[in-house]
Amino acid sequence: MVGYRFMGKAHSHAYRDLPFYFDTEVEPVLQAVAGRNEVEVKVAADKMGWASYETDWKRLIERKDIDLIDIVTPNNTHAEIAIAAAEAGKHVICEKPLAMNLEQAQRMLHAVRKNNVVHMICHNYRFAPAVQFAKKLIQEGRLGKIYHIRATYLQDWIMDPNFPLVWRLRKEVTGSGTHGDIAAHILDLARFLVGEFDEVVGMMETFIKERPIGEMTGGLNAKLEAGSKGKVDVDDTSAFLARFKSGALGVFEATRFAGGNRNGNRFEINGEKGSIRWDLENMNNLQVYLADDEPGLQGFRTINCTEEHHPFAGAYWPAGHIIGYEHTFINLMKELMNGISRGYSPNPNFEDGVRNQAVLEAVEKSVETRSWVKLEQMSLAKNY
Ligand SMILES: NC(=O)c1ccc[n+]([C@@H]2O[C@H](COP(=O)([O-])OP(=O)(O)OC[C@H]3O[C@@H](n4cnc5c(N)ncnc54)[C@H](O)[C@@H]3O)[C@@H](O)[C@H]2O)c1
Repeated sequence: MVGYRFMGKAHSHAYRDLPFYFDTEVEPVLQAVAGRNEVEVKVAADKMGWASYETDWKRLIERKDIDLIDIVTPNNTHAEIAIAAAEAGKHVICEKPLAMNLEQAQRMLHAVRKNNVVHMICHNYRFAPAVQFAKKLIQEGRLGKIYHIRATYLQDWIMDPNFPLVWRLRKEVTGSGTHGDIAAHILDLARFLVGEFDEVVGMMETFIKERPIGEMTGGLNAKLEAGSKGKVDVDDTSAFLARFKSGALGVFEATRFAGGNRNGNRFEINGEKGSIRWDLENMNNLQVYLADDEPGLQGFRTINCTEEHHPFAGAYWPAGHIIGYEHTFINLMKELMNGISRGYSPNPNFEDGVRNQAVLEAVEKSVETRSWVKLEQMSLAKNY
């Protein structure tokens, strides 16, 4: 694993807990973690259960005792590490967004395909049992034709103008701001549940244009460094409209300026026969409305998706004994282990990463040109 903070903790925990709940044909062995600061990476390795550490990720790629490279570093490092890993014949899992831009993302997809390694991108929210159950209901036709998706990802952790200029707010490290960070998640959920995008039009804004310099310290916490200020060159908020190939319409809003919303990842989908609603902060529940319910009893019902009928949930606890954020990663890693033992790349994989990146970039292009952008206008390479 390269990197060891927020996502490093989530992934390490998932690898360790996975065999506890799932019987997979291969099991993860936490062989080595890489970080640039020897003191810190050693502490992280000890705490999170890694057998050894390296101070240069390139050493991980060279090691013969490593089969899978897990990338949990900032976005500007994903492409170089993933391509080097694939060229060395190692399987790759990479955090989202896949890359800084579509061109990089396509090079990453090309590298994993050419070298025939298993690949995944870590859109973990797909793996909440309630989201998987939503997918099952849609696939079974229980909602009929889908008309609408409205999805929001609302946070508020940088509203204080003195919150520092961390890597997530610097274009050269992150690519885009709120857009690539959390709009990426809701558009991935939309692709998972509703299908491929046809065209988009968006708007973005940066409310606080200058901040004191600082760095992330784990989770979404940060510390100030003494002295200077720097320019914020990424979006604080991104909102866009979409048409899907199926004819459905989408409304999306992602922001870090929605006071009181700590991690409001929510969607509602309306179809001809019913509707569903989901909210990460109440992630075990799916709200379901079915139009063929008896008159007088119609309305949204709450399904607590903790039963064996709900994908992944049966591996955990008896019905009603709820699970949390970390279990979305365990479920995703279970799919990855199956992919590695059986030789395929489970969804979401680098192809999803490229398609998501194309939507992100199409929205950015629409903001620049103040017009609708068709996904087919986005230049996907010939080998894609
Ligand atoms: N799936 C999710 O829900 C989710 C949530 C948060 C972050 N992410 C993604 O995970 C990735 C990491 O984010 P995070 O929140 O864990 O960040 P973080 O700041 O908490 O940790 C980043 C880690 O990368 C290391 N690092 C930074 N630059 C490096 C370099 N050049 N070489 C080697 N190591 C380097 C840091 O030392 C640190 O260990 C990002 O791509 C982010 O978008 C995904």
